[in-house]
Amino acid sequence: MSKSHYSSIVVLTGAGISAESGIKTFRDQGGLWESHRLEDVATPEAFQRDSALVQRFYNERRAQLPLVEPNDGHLALARLEKAVPGTLVITQNVDDLHERAGSHHLIHMHGELSKARCVKSGQLFRVKEPLSEHSLCTCCVPANLLRPHIVWFGEMPLGLDRIFHALAQCDLFIAIGTSGQVYPAAGFVDEAASQGAYCIEINADNSHISDRFDEHRRGPASIEVPKLVKELCGH
Ligand code: APR
Repeated sequence: MSKSHYSSIVVLTGAGISAESGIKTFRDQGGLWESHRLEDVATPEAFQRDSALVQRFYNERRAQLPLVEPNDGHLALARLEKAVPGTLVITQNVDDLHERAGSHHLIHMHGELSKARCVKSGQLFRVKEPLSEHSLCTCCVPANLLRPHIVWFGEMPLGLDRIFHALAQCDLFIAIGTSGQVYPAAGFVDEAASQGAYCIEINADNSHISDRFDEHRRGPASIEVPKLVKELCGH
């Protein structure tokens, strides 16, 4: 089937697309949630209880960024956006590999490691050095604490209005490397399908939401994403 007629494409990415760049996923064997309890590092309550520990956890993740590179999966999605300008990438990932690969039309729905946020005003700051329990904003007098610009469990993901608008319009929805265990992202396929979009899943394995897709491509994102992008736009 030729898919070149798609004009509005929404791509949802998860940790699987960055795995081959060397960033651990959350729930695969050896994943982050095996070595850390998410209740200790990824909730607002954890930050209130032990902000030093939470800051350290994200400092470690952030320190990895200069050591990793976008892989062929990220690069292919940037080519797709050039070829089909209506393409939107929604990522659950907090790394910066999509933007470094050249994706511009991008929503970081779970936040960004490279930014910190004032707990009072919400102003964003680019993080230049590791954060601690003493890191303060420069936007308030007196200054307030800075927290990682990360959407923790129990918090509202970012950009949902734009996301649901895009899902309602798209004619092709592609989910790449996500286990489908965290909502609302896991429900995006249903939203897109209910509006008539064709839905493709790329994953190394079965996910919790595989049965909702029209088509499955099993394999590593660095191989399967370039293959699909080539089918869609010829290069
Ligand atoms: N290529 C394709 N898929 C892969 C690859 C790969 N190289 N490696 C792993 N995968 C798949 C796994 O099969 C799994 O389905 O990626 C998925 C990773 O799942 P999770 O670790 O659960 O990551 P994700 O779905 O992004 O998690 C969602 O959970 O903890 C939160 O906020 C965190 O954004 C994250 C959210």
